[in-house]
Amino acid sequence: MIDVQGLTYSYNHDRNYAISDISFSVERGEVFALLGPSGAGKSTTQGILTGLLQIQHGSGQVAGFDLKHLSRDLFNKIGVSFEQSNVYGKLTALENLEFYRKLFDGDTEEPLELLKLVGLDHVSGKRAATFSKGMKHRLTFARSMINKPELWFLDEPTTGLDPAIASQIKDIVMSRKKHGTTILLTTHNMFLADQLSDKVGFIVDGELKLVDTPRNLKLRYGQKLVQVEYFEDDQLKTETLSLVNEEEKMRLGAIVNAGRIETMHTREATLEEIFIKVTGRELVYNEAD
Ligand SMILES: Nc1ncnc2c1ncn2[C@@H]1O[C@H](COP(=O)(O)OP(=O)(O)OP(=O)(O)O)[C@@H](O)[C@H]1O
Ligand SMILES: [Mg+2]
Repeated sequence: MIDVQGLTYSYNHDRNYAISDISFSVERGEVFALLGPSGAGKSTTQGILTGLLQIQHGSGQVAGFDLKHLSRDLFNKIGVSFEQSNVYGKLTALENLEFYRKLFDGDTEEPLELLKLVGLDHVSGKRAATFSKGMKHRLTFARSMINKPELWFLDEPTTGLDPAIASQIKDIVMSRKKHGTTILLTTHNMFLADQLSDKVGFIVDGELKLVDTPRNLKLRYGQKLVQVEYFEDDQLKTETLSLVNEEEKMRLGAIVNAGRIETMHTREATLEEIFIKVTGRELVYNEAD
């Protein structure tokens, strides 16, 4: 569904590359997450794949179209939810979707049904300008589904949303995935990437460092960790120790021997820990995202 080789892009047409030599492929029905910190080149990559930015170097195909000769037909097949909401403030939520719907040739979703799905049906008659950031984001997200896209681009779909709404968005993405939609997700939220994706690509400073399934990454780079809570000087302390590091194993032994353990359990490495190990960089993610 997506197959790109050597994508390289510079906003100023100089040697300051936003992305450099990016190659990957996404099969039909797969969810692929581009995971990387701010400024890594996620949105730039998505921009090229959706025809928003013109390809400069490299080659590739998206939904059967050559990136060098994109046609209008591509836009009937894809859905794009941008990082920044881009809805018409003067139109109501419903009018926004109705307007957008008319731009497509093929089969489309019922606007009101989509508003229901994202929890905006009760404000369907309100102008989008009066919406909060999260509401605009949900409207943008709903809009990206209107043409029943085969290939769905989601740029930070849950960033800035409250946890309940973020979880709802995640469920919608999951259900589309089950129905066979191919999804390219760009995010710095590793929980989302872990839960939703079949494959993840680590992107840093415009370079794709590695691509694999979350499970393989955990097997390859993960190490068994033990998280232990214990009392010391009447204070509850927590440590996470590796079972393959001799020093940390001895530390665990010492804590066990002191006999003041509250809880102890093993856990596997998170994608974030693996990301840091592979790229030497942090994703900079916090719960509010
Ligand atoms: N319109 C633009 N003009 C010039 N440089 C840009 C522009 N947009 C992005 N860049 C630069 O390109 C690089 C990649 O940016 P990009 O927006 O693709 O990153 P990102 O991974 O999407 O980051 P974020 O997580 O913050 O959304 C950055 O160095 C950024 O400063
Ligand atoms: Mg971005």
